[in-house]
Amino acid sequence: MIQNAEVRVRKMTLDDLPAVMAIEQQAFSNPWSLEMVKKELTQAWSTVLLCEELTGTGWCLRAFAIFWLVADELHVLNVATDTAVRRRGFGRRVMDATLSFARTQRCVQAFLEVRRSNVAAQGLYGSLGFRQVGLRPRYYQDDHEDAVVMALDMKEPA
Ligand SMILES: CC(C)(COP(=O)(O)OP(=O)(O)OC[C@H]1O[C@@H](n2cnc3c(N)ncnc32)[C@H](O)[C@@H]1OP(=O)(O)O)[C@@H](O)C(=O)NCCC(=O)NCCS
Repeated sequence: MIQNAEVRVRKMTLDDLPAVMAIEQQAFSNPWSLEMVKKELTQAWSTVLLCEELTGTGWCLRAFAIFWLVADELHVLNVATDTAVRRRGFGRRVMDATLSFARTQRCVQAFLEVRRSNVAAQGLYGSLGFRQVGLRPRYYQDDHEDAVVMALDMKEPA
């Protein structure tokens, strides 16, 4: 739970690359490369949202979400929270902002894939209303783990 904290969500810029990459590399066994994240900043259909907390030294990146808006669909590609501040609500905050933004763009459905073993992420997405709609066997290239496909009907009231 984010309590007594000043928190903001904003779009990522090139200047944010080092901070985003630091979280990306600690969060995933097979992280996106810097070039992959950088490319998202150049594609019209892609958005990267950052959730920051005001600390004694200024605004500090806590979580981010990378997503695509394709026609009337939201595709969530990547979400991560700094390991030091997990379970404080930053993941939910950046996902709430992602869904709100997608609604303003008239998205009616959201999709994502998540590792079968990823209880934390499935808990987060489930708490936002996402439900399992499929399974992609051996989807991940590094270790062949299955992917759970989750979807959210955004036409239903939030
Ligand atoms: C998944 C992740 C983004 C969640 O971020 P977070 O900031 O810790 O999540 P929040 O504090 O906003 O939690 C929101 C909800 O998600 C669920 N959740 C989060 N962590 C959980 C855990 N370890 N176990 C079970 N449920 C969990 C809970 O429902 C939680 O609500 P609650 O705290 O009121 O019970 C974070 O664990 C992470 O960065 N993991 C590594 C990267 C990753 O797997 N990304 C997803 C790829 S698909």
